[in-house]
Amino acid sequence: MHTEISAEGSDRAVKLLADGEPVALPTETVYGLAADATRPDAVLKIFEAKERPFFDPLIVHLPDINWLDRITQNRDPLVQKLVEAFWPGPLTLVLPRREIVPDIVTSGLETVAVRMSAHPVFQKIASQFGKPLAAPSANRFGRISPTTAQHVMAELDGRIPLIVDGGPTEIGVESTIISVENGCIKILRSGPVTFEALSMFGNPAPEARADKPLAPGQLKSHYAPRTPFKLFGPDLSTRFSGGLQVGCLAWDKPLPDGPFAITEILSETGDMREAAATLFAKMRRLDEAGLDLIVAEEVPEVGLGIAIMDRLRKASANG
Ligand code: TXA
Ligand code: MG
Repeated sequence: MHTEISAEGSDRAVKLLADGEPVALPTETVYGLAADATRPDAVLKIFEAKERPFFDPLIVHLPDINWLDRITQNRDPLVQKLVEAFWPGPLTLVLPRREIVPDIVTSGLETVAVRMSAHPVFQKIASQFGKPLAAPSANRFGRISPTTAQHVMAELDGRIPLIVDGGPTEIGVESTIISVENGCIKILRSGPVTFEALSMFGNPAPEARADKPLAPGQLKSHYAPRTPFKLFGPDLSTRFSGGLQVGCLAWDKPLPDGPFAITEILSETGDMREAAATLFAKMRRLDEAGLDLIVAEEVPEVGLGIAIMDRLRKASANG
């Protein structure tokens, strides 16, 4: 299958979605691979293109707020408050599902993950299409999420018909995923809607640093570069010898150790938003440089830094 990258592809995207085809679309977090969430045959093509195992359920993106009650049975008043505060935006809620959601979307779970994207291109296509879109990140399973159309091309060329190019994504890390039960918020994946922001709505339980996944897909190894990847704290020496080609992903300044063949700095001004927005592109650049090893420096674990550290830990789980 020939893959096309298009900047003005919204009519073509809507037509392909109506034909049951998967299309890569920009969201404010990362690029998603979208298909009609109500059609198992269309959703199957997402799993095939990504080589994603069927035990890993998908997020359903709603075209408008009226779809929330058609997809979920949401009885908790806290849900309404969270939706008003954070939608459209990078917050995904796991809620009891209705029959309309096919089993292939939820991996047979009785819950469904839902969000509304704030990206204008995504919103336009979703509202023209008029039905919910199942959309995981548009990478092959277990790999680094794409934050540009070119990243999607590198992952899925020839497997999908169309990539709609909305430029680099603004936020750069995937949405925060929470469940809400009996007035309690449980964080299943940390993300752009921070622990601090959620604390205004109750006492969120932080993400379990899990060897044991709480939910399918909370796998310990994820976002994985092909190059061995190691995480180093501020006090650890990272001196290398023996002709190893080592790359470094540093927080706000080059590490004194080394030698490093390449250094990427997440944000020279220590700006967490810049770090999140460029994290995956920098990981990808290092991964494509033919190195023997990538070492990453820990970042301060506050605000968005919690989500960044989560991604770095998962990238290093096999390193
Ligand atoms: O920002 C994002 O969330 C991006 C954009 C495209 O929207 N999407 C994304 O999807 O990151 P994906 O499939 O890469 O990650 C979704 C995660 C998976 O780890 C999956 O296991 C979890 O959501 N998930 C989906 N449905 C769930 C459910 N019913 N219960 C618990 N976890 C669920
Ligand atoms: Mg993903």
